[in-house]
Amino acid sequence: MNLLVTGGAGFAGSNFIRHILKKYPNYTIVNLDKLTYAGNLDNLRDIEGNSNYKFIKGDIADKRIVFKVCRNFRIEAVINYAAETHVDRSILDPDAFVKTDVLGTFNILEAVKEFKLKKFVQISTDEVYGSITKGKFTEESPFLPNSPYSASKASADLLCRAYLKTYNLPIIVTHSCNFYGPYQYPEKLMPLFITNLLEGKKVPLYGDGKNVREWIYVLDHCWAIDFLLHKGALGEVYNIGTGTEKKNLEITEIILKSLNKDKKMVEHIVDRPGHDLRYAVDWTKLKKMGWNPEYDFDRAIRETVRWYQQNEWWWKKLKSGAYLEYYKKQYRL
Ligand code: NAD
Ligand code: DAU
Repeated sequence: MNLLVTGGAGFAGSNFIRHILKKYPNYTIVNLDKLTYAGNLDNLRDIEGNSNYKFIKGDIADKRIVFKVCRNFRIEAVINYAAETHVDRSILDPDAFVKTDVLGTFNILEAVKEFKLKKFVQISTDEVYGSITKGKFTEESPFLPNSPYSASKASADLLCRAYLKTYNLPIIVTHSCNFYGPYQYPEKLMPLFITNLLEGKKVPLYGDGKNVREWIYVLDHCWAIDFLLHKGALGEVYNIGTGTEKKNLEITEIILKSLNKDKKMVEHIVDRPGHDLRYAVDWTKLKKMGWNPEYDFDRAIRETVRWYQQNEWWWKKLKSGAYLEYYKKQYRL
């Protein structure tokens, strides 16, 4: 199968490309990525020479490049990982979120229609449902996004729905909980806290730290997308979850303990505007089809901490450039 993976130089996309190339030696993958601050070819260093893999630098908001890649590489299926993904950035500067997450997805849908592709998997998020105090979001829950990021993802998902209903395109939309693992840009909770502590810096915990997220190890997410690419029913929406819910305070404590650091290293700072209290998804639909997460949370988070300890070459340079400027602006440092 000839696959187009968009945003494959990012955290989850790069893990997915590695997973597919290893498991399906007869597949070819084209990775179309704009290489924004979050796109990093270091994430794919070990596979860049693989003859079944090709990298193309390009913007999914540019329809011509999306069409050109589909035509030239005889693409059969697309998995859209490309997005602006960081909630705090969407609060400070939402433009790119609308361009990439909405217009970019629109261009891919147009390409799916034009080139009669066999499958399109849209990688979306549980954040489109908003925040839930009790219970879990099902695939039927209404969209109530609270940040420019989640609103841009919800808009893209609505376009997917419309293209399914109007043109009967082979679309699958996934709503996943929070990923963690190797190669995550050090602005997200886990890699930020781990690398700050490794640098001897404090960790900025928003508000009271009682916000809850559901966590999936990135390789389990790769496995879920692989599963849906091959077994998912066209036109369906799937939640991807694990049931592992943790308060940010709990995640912070686990990371502090893994690195033998004291609670004095935690700095409680002003809360994120519109901060969602809790996300939790009901993923019974996926479970009934035979998918289950394989990684144990306690072990996978320890392995994640160890990966950042052992791969300073990867994250050190990311924390020294534009990211720091952004961080200073955000916290008025
Ligand atoms: P990331 O921020 O690490 O990487 C995003 C990638 O997309 C980067 O390589 C970037 O260069 C590329 N990109 C951005 N704009 C582009 C454009 N206009 N054209 C082409 N490429 C572009 O993202 P991630 O955390 O790996 O998330 C991947 C996907 O999964 C996103 O769609 C996100 O919404 C979704 N998601 C993420 C999580 C999570 O916890 N990280 C959870 C649920 C869903
Ligand atoms: O739920 C899926 C979503 O998870 C994805 O769609 C997003 O792309 C991804 O960024 C993630 O969003 P979150 O806002 O949940 O992730 P983040 O790592 O930014 O924050 C996790 C929690 O930690 C959240 O409650 C805010 C808090 N936090 C985060 C940062 C960066 C802090 O307390 N301090 C911080 O410095």
